[in-house]
Amino acid sequence: MSCRAASNARPASARVIGTGMYVPERVMTNEDFTRIVDTNDEWITKRTGMKQRRIAEHDQATSDLAIEACRRALDDAGVEPADVDLVICATITADNTLPATACWLQDRLGCTGAGAFDLTAACSGHIYGLAQARAAILTGQARTVLVTSAEVLSCITDYTDRSTCVLFGDGAGAAVVQASDEPDTGILYTTLYADGSGGTMMLLPAGGSRRPASHETVDQRLHYMHIRGRGVFKFAVLKMQELIEECMKECDLTVDQVRLVIPHQVNTRIINAATGRMGFPPEKVFLNIEKYGNTGGASVAIAHDEARRQGALGPGDMALLIAFGGGLTWAGAAIRH
Ligand code: ACO
Repeated sequence: MSCRAASNARPASARVIGTGMYVPERVMTNEDFTRIVDTNDEWITKRTGMKQRRIAEHDQATSDLAIEACRRALDDAGVEPADVDLVICATITADNTLPATACWLQDRLGCTGAGAFDLTAACSGHIYGLAQARAAILTGQARTVLVTSAEVLSCITDYTDRSTCVLFGDGAGAAVVQASDEPDTGILYTTLYADGSGGTMMLLPAGGSRRPASHETVDQRLHYMHIRGRGVFKFAVLKMQELIEECMKECDLTVDQVRLVIPHQVNTRIINAATGRMGFPPEKVFLNIEKYGNTGGASVAIAHDEARRQGALGPGDMALLIAFGGGLTWAGAAIRH
């Protein structure tokens, strides 16, 4: 079924039936940063929870990472590429501005009957993507949707700025979402928010139509992310807390009924503050930030895949996915496995 061919039959639910992830081979440790900026392992570990991150090779673009994650997700789901109706790629580091990275993926994967588009919601991208997949499925627009979230943040990271460069890593995650006749399962609830008045808090100043690339913009280092992290900190804690609260309220859940919170791996202190205030013990909060750092939109997707593969989420288990990022955007999803 193609994305255009809407079905009359409305499914009961949209389920995540497969996930995958991929990170580049190259590891960059906290110790490595001490050789390029004035920093140390203790500061980075204490302030962020990060120990290392993966960095793409110069010839690896976002689609090269995403394709591996997508293949693993399709394999996990037992779905043939030709059976995918829609490919959604959430990224802020698209291979090109034109065409969409999702189109490169659609072709390279062999999703011959699928529509494809990119989505820009920064670190909230994967949950925005899952929400679009769910909506397309529940309205009969698509039966099987491939959502991938992938970033090569190293290509927009200023490695002369110690306050931002230590935060980011590269990686990709993917999920196959499919229509199901089983009620009360799968992606039960999604919630999306934005506040563009905070757009300059995390900004890539040049390279778009506002300030096209020029010698001047390159000389001024305007093709890198500019982030006011300190200002974002408290807001991020509050919004992540509110997202958990809303998902639990709307799905009528108690802490005991939630198996796992899978947060955007932004900063251990932000995550611990938000989940702790909501009464979640550490064992119910999935963390892999020490291995990969902040991989933008890919972070929740990678964490979700790792949690499933480690057996942390079994049949019937409830997970809350929550994220916060540039835009500003924030988003949550409640998923029964
Ligand atoms: N090594 C050593 N010292 C550093 C480093 C470093 N890498 N970076 C900053 N410092 C210094 C600062 O210069 C400052 O020194 P000063 O007091 O002499 O001015 C001091 O450490 C404290 O800096 P703060 O910015 O106040 O540190 P904070 O505790 O807020 O931690 C951090 C910074 C980790 C960025 C935190 O604010 C944070 O996680 N913020 C929100 C997360 C965020 O915005 N992430 C990016 C999201 S973008 C996206 O997701 C796509």
